[in-house]
Amino acid sequence: MKRTALATVVAAAMLVPSCGEAADTPTTPQDPALATAGADLYAAHCAECHGADLRGTDRGPSQLSELYAPDHHGDGAYLLAVQRGVPAHHWRFGDMPRIEGLTADDVAAIVAYVRQQQLIEGFEPYPPGAEG
Ligand code: HEC
Repeated sequence: MKRTALATVVAAAMLVPSCGEAADTPTTPQDPALATAGADLYAAHCAECHGADLRGTDRGPSQLSELYAPDHHGDGAYLLAVQRGVPAHHWRFGDMPRIEGLTADDVAAIVAYVRQQQLIEGFEPYPPGAEG
């Protein structure tokens, strides 16, 4: 049963490169309506530290850092961050507290929004200023 599910995932992954100009295929397929819902949730729950423009504040890091690219902090990292909080480990902003009042679906919408913006805006180097 597990094996079948894995085979399905692998098969689906192998289909992706055949989608024409999908060289830059995002890890998370974007649903624009979901991302739009996520934008409001992000503004209400995340922007005070991660910035209304996602570029961070003096209380939290930029969500456009390459550190948060899907291949480094996958979507599951977002759910865990919200549910458990994050002890400071990559930055010096202090700990991220657990965020109350969000369902897993809410977090999925926030992730859709963040991934969408990462695709549109591109990534900042990590550590910041690494390019100069
Ligand atoms: C009170 C400030 C604050 C708020 C509010 C906040 N964060 Fe954070 N967040 C942080 C800080 C600080 C870090 C960096 C911790 C480190 O790595 O040093 C962080 C890190 C993260 C990480 C990386 C987790 C990891 O595994 O390294 C994710 C993902 C994240 N935040 C998502 C969110 C989302 C989504 C929201 C809104 C639902 C949110 N944060 C709200 C402060 C905040």
